[in-house]
Amino acid sequence: MADKKAQLIIEGNAPVELPILTGTVGPDVIDVRGLGASGHFTFDPGFMATASCESKITYIDGDKGILLHRGYPIEQLAEQSDYLETCYLLLNGELPNAEQKAQFVSTVKNHTMVHEQLKTFFNGFRRDAHPMAVMCGVVGALSAFYHDSLDINNPQHREISAVRLVAKMPTLAAMVYKYSMGQPMMYPRNDLTYAENFLHMMFNTPCEIKPISPTLAKAMDRIFILHADHEQNASTSTVRLAGSSGANPFACIAAGIAALWGPAHGGANEAVLTMLDEIGDVSNIDTFIAKAKDKNDPFKLMGFGHRVYKNRDPRATVMKQTCDEVLGELGIKNDPQLELAMRLEEIALTDPYFIERSLYPNVDFYSGIILKAIGIPTSMFTVIFALARTVGWISHWKEMLSGPYKIGRPRQLYTGEPQRDIVELKDRK
Ligand code: SDX
Repeated sequence: MADKKAQLIIEGNAPVELPILTGTVGPDVIDVRGLGASGHFTFDPGFMATASCESKITYIDGDKGILLHRGYPIEQLAEQSDYLETCYLLLNGELPNAEQKAQFVSTVKNHTMVHEQLKTFFNGFRRDAHPMAVMCGVVGALSAFYHDSLDINNPQHREISAVRLVAKMPTLAAMVYKYSMGQPMMYPRNDLTYAENFLHMMFNTPCEIKPISPTLAKAMDRIFILHADHEQNASTSTVRLAGSSGANPFACIAAGIAALWGPAHGGANEAVLTMLDEIGDVSNIDTFIAKAKDKNDPFKLMGFGHRVYKNRDPRATVMKQTCDEVLGELGIKNDPQLELAMRLEEIALTDPYFIERSLYPNVDFYSGIILKAIGIPTSMFTVIFALARTVGWISHWKEMLSGPYKIGRPRQLYTGEPQRDIVELKDRK
């Protein structure tokens, strides 16, 4: 992996030789672990050009708009697999055969319930609390219930924690929604698929158990697949960093949920719908595009741009197709927000500002329109993202802990005061 070398010439220092490591695909990396001996650190705020780890889970080619999960293109997984198959793939490295899938589905089903006492945690929250605030709390609280599986050095404990998290996130997400609505929380059912079960727990009540629309269940499952994992994004890097200290998996996932909440990351799907409501009409698009381009205006076109994709986000393409399918199957014609979003995309992508900066719609641009069509309230959009991304987070956590790793501890460029002595209070000016 390291037959090439980079040479760093630092004035007044002997040249520093650094190994160059080559992966399966993608850019080579310069291994700077030996740089410290030269008395220098690398400096890369925001990790614009830093590989934080080695991984086999997901590969993104930002220039070509390619996203692979264990080598399989996201378009094929979205079209030819379901979310639990994708979970099995991310967690284990291969797609399951029929027997493995049946076993995995059954195992997940038998872990969908949460401890009855978890319900009491909700009562401490206001009913109008943001659902992500509640999710951070109740997912972190899971670590108080599973003392039998918190030894992160035990592969069986890592396995059962991963299954528990994948299985329980839909239950917790639906509980968060029911709590906000003041409705009774619904128990999961073992006769439903993963997506059907989630929609059942979200929208059914003890008074009436309606059958789940296959169209909506398929759309929900597709949304889960498209959000499952995405390499070393901010929330996944947060989970890896938390995990590197030996924190338990439930606490690490709660940290990932917190990082995802930001509008620059997973909070963008909720922000897109808010933005579309703010724009209101096609006639206002130019005003908002001008705001997005104005350096003195903090406004950004939500759902546009990406740190890695400098071409179309392949998930946005599949999401748009799903949008058309779902709205068509639901008989929703000329959805005003979809019309507005399509017009906004059209105008933005002819504007030199967006073209020069390769700002294309990302995964969050169309997802909200589908979620709204399914009946999910805007405030729950990022909870859905967290539900779906949990398998990605825990797969990276498992991968890191399955081999040698060190606690993540970046250094800094210090530009504060040099050493100085304290002056007694009475003598301070
Ligand atoms: C997700 O990392 C992942 O993989 C994340 C994710 C995943 O699956 O985990 O894909 C999910 O988080 C998708 C991104 C969702 N966020 C949004 O849609 C929010 C809007 N987008 C921006 O905030 C921004 O594009 C980011 C945060 C997504 C990326 O920011 P970068 O990589 O730091 O890029 P940047 O801010 O330096 O932008 C480069 C230029 C700047 O202009 P200049 O200083 O060069 O003149 O492009 C401009 C930015 O001002 N720009 C935008 C813009 N995004 C970037 N201008 C207007 N509107 C935008 N949306």
